[in-house]
Amino acid sequence: ASELPAAVEALTLQSTTQTSKYPGCFPTLNPMDIYREHIADKLSEATGIDAEKIYTRLAWTNTLDKGDLALPVAALQIKKKPQELAEELASKFPESDLIFPPKANGPHVQFFCKPEPLTKTVISRILSEKQAFGTNGNLGLKDPSDPSKGRKRIILEFSSPNIAKPFHAGHLRSTIIGGFLANIYTIVGWDVIKMNYLGDWGKQYGLLANGFKYFGDEEALTKDPINHLFNVYVKVNEIVREQEGPIKELKDEIKTKKEKGEDVSAQEAKLAELVDASEDEKARRYFKSMEDGDPDALALWRRFRELSIAKYKQTYARLNIDFDVYSGESQVKKESMENAYKAMEKAGVAESSEGAVIADFTKFGAKKLGKAIIIRKDGTPLYLTRDIGAIIERDDEYHFDKMIYVVASQQDLHLAQLFKITELSGRKDLSDRCQHINFGMVKGMSTRKGTVKFLDDVLQDVGEKMHEVMKKNEAKYEQVENPEKTADILGITAVMVQDMTGKRINGYDFNLDAMTSFEGDTGPYLQYAHARLRSITRKAGIDESELISAILDLLTEKHAVDLVRLLATWPDVVLNTYKTLEPITVLSYLFRMTHMLSSSYDVLKVIGSEPETMKARLALYTAARQVLFNGMRVLGLTPVERF
Ligand code: ARG
Repeated sequence: ASELPAAVEALTLQSTTQTSKYPGCFPTLNPMDIYREHIADKLSEATGIDAEKIYTRLAWTNTLDKGDLALPVAALQIKKKPQELAEELASKFPESDLIFPPKANGPHVQFFCKPEPLTKTVISRILSEKQAFGTNGNLGLKDPSDPSKGRKRIILEFSSPNIAKPFHAGHLRSTIIGGFLANIYTIVGWDVIKMNYLGDWGKQYGLLANGFKYFGDEEALTKDPINHLFNVYVKVNEIVREQEGPIKELKDEIKTKKEKGEDVSAQEAKLAELVDASEDEKARRYFKSMEDGDPDALALWRRFRELSIAKYKQTYARLNIDFDVYSGESQVKKESMENAYKAMEKAGVAESSEGAVIADFTKFGAKKLGKAIIIRKDGTPLYLTRDIGAIIERDDEYHFDKMIYVVASQQDLHLAQLFKITELSGRKDLSDRCQHINFGMVKGMSTRKGTVKFLDDVLQDVGEKMHEVMKKNEAKYEQVENPEKTADILGITAVMVQDMTGKRINGYDFNLDAMTSFEGDTGPYLQYAHARLRSITRKAGIDESELISAILDLLTEKHAVDLVRLLATWPDVVLNTYKTLEPITVLSYLFRMTHMLSSSYDVLKVIGSEPETMKARLALYTAARQVLFNGMRVLGLTPVERF
């Protein structure tokens, strides 16, 4: 995947030298654009209707029986009954080498591509462009007519777990969706910065540091920092909970005594003593020393942070993700928060209320956003305050054209408040460039041994389950080079595909059995489809380089033609995904294609066919495999060779 931007670049350069008169039309990149251009030219010539109007109204179809492209004639805004108009346009369309005589169907004109030229264009392009097929680096250009002006830059902030706390399902979804968004923006030519905004600051680090003094173990820390720190965190939290009981009892006692008018000075002294000696208070003090820049306190915290990041990196690598920047709550400068606060004050957004500073959105016509605390009574900033500082820092540092926060919908209010404050502080230019991409909750994410603490636990469990499934087919199993690694990849695919099935906003139940099944639209099914195509090529024993000379006219069967028609639309699917920003847009295309493939194998046999037929079919399957591969890569999956 790291080679991709160069491939995108190469194709982009090629396409800018052959521009089209239509907006967003790139015939050298997208085979369907050849057809859109052709239809618009011819229909305009024959009818006098504005060609660009036709071009922009040409639509995708949901199923191949409705054509490869369709024109909903009502969209042309011509005063005529749509049905009659459709018939008139269809009949006026001239004879063409590329398109069959169009069909009028109700208010639509349906266009079907003639198979031979389509097959030649599509298959030869896929075989030569390989991973770059479907990419379009023009879309990310600042100025499409002048590539030298550079690319648009996007910051994608995603994953963002909290050090020493569990990596929960919300972080998993953010990681998967964020990785997918990074891929899609990359293949349409944006300059993508992947940022992880760690929860790495706050009183809990004081708690953790003190806990480490009691329960810490240097060796365990270096070996498995995330688990060790989590264990320390759990233990020290137990102490906090134990101490909470007596403190609460004493508080209650003082309250009742006071109500009766009794003397409570002894109890109050005792309470002060208890509180002072409590872990919670010690944590507060420790964190204060961090805030004040105490070098020892910071050194320990920095070690925790660095070791955790090193471990996170390994896990992210399994998901094909690497971050460009590990930022975090700790990295937001005091100065930025102060400046932001001043801007808020100046704009009248911040007001003091009972010693704290708040923003009251109801006064700015945003009732739903309620009120938010900006600075606590004790002068300390909050989660929101850090985000307010961070958004401006990022703009100053990266000059981005767009920034996306991939965060669970539980934080809808938080992000809406952040964007609103930014806007009200006179930075509408900035808030307009920011977007919250949210998603629903996952229920019941657990392993077979119990509840999960970390992503690794889940991935391991699902991997083991896939390993069991693989072992059931002994003959095949023996041929797999590295079964553990393959099982791991299959497990990760299972988790990711389950996550990407359905729209982002819908939550789902984490279901180990369903996701690891080969029946239905699952990750393992997708991997199976890919491995099967690989196996067909292996068995045929024809080198991929020979396929360029295949006689593609031999691909006349309906199954072959339909498969080509579907492959032709992959660049359009990428375009559509760039609009929806939904992984399901890609995923449902891939399932549509793999279903079509599995019904083709009996009809389009390779082994046992005439040599030329064999070669032509192999070219088709190789092209299909490439598109499946490209689609899986966009989703962040690792296609396997065999299993
Ligand atoms: N660390 C946060 C959490 O686990 C998510 C951070 C989201 N991003 C942000 N800029 N607030 O809830």
